[in-house]
Amino acid sequence: MKLLVTGGAGFIGSNFIRHMLSAYPDYRIINLDKLTYAGNLENLQDIDKFPNYTFVKGDIGDSHIFDKMEIDAIVNFAAESHVDRSILDATPFLKTNVIGTYNLLETARQKACIFLHVSTDEVYGSIDRGFFNEDSRLLPNSPYAASKAASDMLVRSYVETHDVMAIITRCSNNYGPYQFPEKLFPLVILNALNRKPIPVYGDGMNVRDWIHVNDHCRALDAVLHKGRAGDVYNIGARCERTNIEAVRLLLKKTSEQLGIDEQELTGLITFVKDRPGHDKRYAIDPSMIEGNLKWQPEKDFDKGVSETVQWYLSNEKWWQRIVSGEYAEYYRTQYGESI
Ligand code: NAD
Ligand code: TYD
Repeated sequence: MKLLVTGGAGFIGSNFIRHMLSAYPDYRIINLDKLTYAGNLENLQDIDKFPNYTFVKGDIGDSHIFDKMEIDAIVNFAAESHVDRSILDATPFLKTNVIGTYNLLETARQKACIFLHVSTDEVYGSIDRGFFNEDSRLLPNSPYAASKAASDMLVRSYVETHDVMAIITRCSNNYGPYQFPEKLFPLVILNALNRKPIPVYGDGMNVRDWIHVNDHCRALDAVLHKGRAGDVYNIGARCERTNIEAVRLLLKKTSEQLGIDEQELTGLITFVKDRPGHDKRYAIDPSMIEGNLKWQPEKDFDKGVSETVQWYLSNEKWWQRIVSGEYAEYYRTQYGESI
């Protein structure tokens, strides 16, 4: 199979490429990535010399970049992905997440190839009780979520109008190696290592539904090979935690691995002004992918968190380069000090 992976230099995309090259050594993968602040070729250093892997620097909004590519399927990870940035300025979210996806849909239409659109549970908005299923209404609350919902709508329209073989997945919050340090898990680990305040928004009681990135990648593999065109699949591991619970677990694991007193790190927790429009709870029902595609998450949360902490402790060179670069400026605007 010839796969075009877009946004493959980011967190989930790079883990997906690694998973696919290991599971299907005969597949050919083109990774097209614009290398925004979140794109990092060091995420793929171990495989960039593989003969069946090619990197192309480019924008999914560029309508001619795909002309000469032979593609059986597109897996679209390319996106602006951070809610807080979408609150500061939504423009790049609209350009990439909406117009960029439209351009990819036109490409999939012209090439008559499969289009797997990697979306998010955030398109459903917040739910106090119960779970979102694939038929739940889309009620996005952040500019990020709205741009992803808009892209999902475009995908649906291309299935209905142009018979594009498109599938949408909506996954819950991912954690694991190579996640950019603006996101909660790496932010907590790195601030703990640097003995910086750990900002918890509001009262810390917002609930997120966590999944290890490898389980997400295995689910995307299942959807790509066994999913039905036009379908939507929720992906989640039934692992709800309040933010404060997740932060405390991360600090427990970090202190154990550093061999220090846990209280030295929990004392860094600082409750800060809440994020505007902050969704209270995300919770999805993954029964459809579990039943129809026989996928199940494998990673236990406690073990996955330990391994993730260990990964950041062992890969200081990787994150040092990020925190000393462009990210340092963003961190200063958010938290008023340097990391
Ligand atoms: P990320 O921010 O780590 O990576 C995004 C990648 O896309 C980067 O490599 C970036 O350079 C690239 N990119 C951005 N704009 C581009 C453009 N115009 N053209 C080409 N490349 C471009 O994001 P992530 O966390 O890996 O998320 C990947 C996808 O998964 C996103 O679509 C996101 O909405 C979705 N998702 C993420 C999560 C999560 O918890 N991280 C959960 C569910 C769904
Ligand atoms: P995040 O990793 O930004 O993912 P998302 O907003 O897409 O769910 O945040 C996860 C949760 O953690 C979310 O409820 C916001 C909260 N949060 C904090 O409390 N402090 C922080 O510094 C960050 C980045 C997030």
